[in-house]
Amino acid sequence: MEAGHLVLVGMMGSGKSAVGRVLSSRLDRPLFDSDEQIEERSDRTIREIWDTDGEDAFRILETQVLTDNLARVESSVISTGGGVVVREENRRILVESEAHVVWLKSSIEMLIERVRNGVHRPLLDDDPEAKLRQIWLDRESLYRGVADAIVSVDNRSVLDVAKAVERCCA
Ligand code: S3P
Repeated sequence: MEAGHLVLVGMMGSGKSAVGRVLSSRLDRPLFDSDEQIEERSDRTIREIWDTDGEDAFRILETQVLTDNLARVESSVISTGGGVVVREENRRILVESEAHVVWLKSSIEMLIERVRNGVHRPLLDDDPEAKLRQIWLDRESLYRGVADAIVSVDNRSVLDVAKAVERCCA
């Protein structure tokens, strides 16, 4: 596996956090999980940030965390939030970085099945299935635009996905 950060992007429910944990242990690299970092830094849950300050405030924190993570010298595994590609600034940061950006690509059916329960996803509060379909359509080209590699997660275990990520970045 080449040196440099490994960044996982993809929709809510695509398995970024779980795959990130496995990769971190297999590659013996620190793991930075954007959603967790935002909650730690602000001492609030994503839901609280979203409800009190709104999505834009959350997105600004997300950009700060992304920038800090990519600035680290030690190679790491970075699990981003699904919406990291929404801001143009983040897409530019990802494209211009030396990091390997891997899109964990999943079918909409699998995502719908997986995101049924999840309190940290305010975007899916009303009619989650319709919302998810719309977000998937809106973001597909954005993920493609930042990705150095694409790994399909459909019908694969977390371990299989992690191994596929390793292979594509070797
Ligand atoms: C979001 C995805 C979530 C979380 C927030 C917004 C999105 O992260 O950052 O609810 O816009 O897709 P996960 O992808 O880890 O669920």
